[in-house]
Amino acid sequence: METETSSFVSVSEMLRSLNPREPVYCIYPHIYRQAARSFVNGFPGRVLYAVKANDEAAIIRLLNEAGVAHFDCASVPEIALVRANCPGATCYFMIPVALRGAAHEAFHDYGVRHFMVDDLERIDSLASEIPLDQCVVFARMAVSHESAMMDLSSKFGASPAQIPEILNRIRSTGAEPALAFNVGTLVTAPEAYRHAIEVAAEVLATVDFKLRLIDIGGGFPWSYPGFESPPLQEYFRVVSETLTALPMLESGAIMAEPGRALSAPGLSAVVEVLLRKERRLYLNDGMYGIFWELRFEGHQRFPVRAYRNGERLAGSLVSFKLYGPTCDASDVLPGEVELPEGIQTGDHLEFGNIGAYSLSGRTRFNGHYSERIVEINSCDESPPKTEEA
Ligand SMILES: Cc1ncc(COP(=O)(O)O)c(C=O)c1O
Repeated sequence: METETSSFVSVSEMLRSLNPREPVYCIYPHIYRQAARSFVNGFPGRVLYAVKANDEAAIIRLLNEAGVAHFDCASVPEIALVRANCPGATCYFMIPVALRGAAHEAFHDYGVRHFMVDDLERIDSLASEIPLDQCVVFARMAVSHESAMMDLSSKFGASPAQIPEILNRIRSTGAEPALAFNVGTLVTAPEAYRHAIEVAAEVLATVDFKLRLIDIGGGFPWSYPGFESPPLQEYFRVVSETLTALPMLESGAIMAEPGRALSAPGLSAVVEVLLRKERRLYLNDGMYGIFWELRFEGHQRFPVRAYRNGERLAGSLVSFKLYGPTCDASDVLPGEVELPEGIQTGDHLEFGNIGAYSLSGRTRFNGHYSERIVEINSCDESPPKTEEA
């Protein structure tokens, strides 16, 4: 059962009041509201939040209250979570391979009507579980672009050449056919979307019916120190410009599945320095915890601030290597981080922009797993930002 989230006006107040031994994850509600509003207002179509990026119930509720009414779910537990927290929202089951019986449960227990496949065999399994004539089924097409931190098409997606046959087969079952693709995650060039939409337009030109729904996936980036990306408005502009190439029904809509762009900005992680050894700092959180996404090659760090006894710590900056709390030698953050040179055991660090693929992926390795999630409820407070780093 979810307990009520404690609320503080600032990280300083939280540190003074809790003096926490474990990492504390701080939700800044006004930042999440702002991120949701600006995506929903800026994107020229339907916005589905990709729950996998951060499945914390309080964050899902905040995004929903700020206008995100659709959710991209990859499992029945994600669908159940959205249903429990956002009763009026629409859930889409957007993974081409799912557990046996999951589509049946999603359809009958949760009213889901949107599903995805990337090969012909999966259409038959779906048909054996749900009445397809009441559903929209997306054919997932593989597309990739060198500007993505991770190419998602190496695992899922049929080649563009196979898509017409899959769309025709979906249509023959009585389901409404639709198209989906995903350029990757942390896509740093808006042109990647132009490329993918143009490939989709070429494929759809060979099909003798028009689609109502086309899902252009996630991948919209967030900037990290040393890994900056263009503003989201640039992506929306390119998508709007290219859309006219898509042969779609007049009543049609495009959809996007942003995970990172909605979940990254409003969360920070406050961790304690357990030991300083010269230029090495041992922290109470690490690569098996909140920093797990840093194992991929890509962005290497998050913007950071230092605190001592709940007050901001200043001083000239020097580089430190950061280590996690587990016994594993690979539990070390990539690169180095600039921090006040006087930093010492017992000080705290607050890492910002950490909401994507952090809480949802941390493990219990070595018994480290913090449940401490709080809200920072003053609109004057913000987590550390990339521009400050
Ligand atoms: C199908 C699908 N949609 C959306 C996303 C969200 O991607 P991002 O967080 O990069 O926006 C992912 C990420 O893995 C995905 O696999």
